[in-house]
Amino acid sequence: MNKQALEAIAQAMVADGQGILAADESTGTIKKRFDTINVTSTEDSRRDYREMLFRTTEAMQENISGVILFDETIRQKSADGTPLTQIMLDAGALPGIKVDAGAKDMAGHAGEMVTEGLDGLRDRLAEYHGLGAKFAKWRAVLNITDTHPSAGCLTANTHALARYAALCQEAEIVPIVEPEVIMDGSHSVERCYEVTTAALTHLYARLAEQGVHLEGTILKPNMVLSGSQHATQAGVDQVAEMTLDCFHKCVPEAVPGIVFLSGGQSDVDATAHLDAMNKIGGLPWKLSFSYGRALQAAPLKAWSGELANVPAAQAAFAHRAKMNGLAAQGKWDASLEG
Ligand code: 13P
Repeated sequence: MNKQALEAIAQAMVADGQGILAADESTGTIKKRFDTINVTSTEDSRRDYREMLFRTTEAMQENISGVILFDETIRQKSADGTPLTQIMLDAGALPGIKVDAGAKDMAGHAGEMVTEGLDGLRDRLAEYHGLGAKFAKWRAVLNITDTHPSAGCLTANTHALARYAALCQEAEIVPIVEPEVIMDGSHSVERCYEVTTAALTHLYARLAEQGVHLEGTILKPNMVLSGSQHATQAGVDQVAEMTLDCFHKCVPEAVPGIVFLSGGQSDVDATAHLDAMNKIGGLPWKLSFSYGRALQAAPLKAWSGELANVPAAQAAFAHRAKMNGLAAQGKWDASLEG
């Protein structure tokens, strides 16, 4: 393991005012996103849409440190033959790659899921390293009910995350470890706090067992939120305080950066929550973003598959990237949303 190289990548991923663009939607998920704007999902339409984001030069240079790609995208070339990874590298953003094979129904655990993809992962990581990947992502899915996630679900998912992380570091790729506690449900914010605490406690115990070098990892967690169907919703300050309280208890100071998923929050909520946490400050880790929907919803809608809309879509993406770049430094204000 080249610890220095891993640490340098991890620190670049959370450079001041920068965060990650999650553009690693699987073929099935990007089709669902395209369905909302009546665009047919083809290899070319997926390429054109993503290339448009990666060519939003100022946003990529100023606010995006890295992009999580799907297998198809890391191999794609633009219409003029330039690899998409070269376009992002030219703008100073690092290519990353989703390597899990998705969350599947967990045997013996009705209603729970376990993420697959460890078989053959060493060889796939070596290939991705050759294709330029500097970091990777593996997402575990944890649903909340009165009885879920079970101990068996937490153990299986965090064990897989730890084995993935060890394999990444062997390949000189920084692992983003993502134990996502899903916001759907009628649970309270206190229940989300309890489950997120359990997930992170399990995760760091398993990472220690597998000898993972924490300074060369990035954590991608959910925020501590009220369930989306809960009768009352915790406000911005409460979300910020409870999320930070949970992390101070569970996330070792050796971890260089925490980059949130947006998980279905509105664009502005995701920004406001991140900003509120950075305004509290006094944090041992950098706190930034790795948003998918909260960065892409606005440009996707503005684009709607029309070449003529590319400038408007790029402006929409640049705006959200800038707002989140400010939030990553506690410098955002609602008045900047315009
Ligand atoms: P969202 O921000 O849309 O939740 O996506 C981030 C991600 O990469 C989930 O794995």
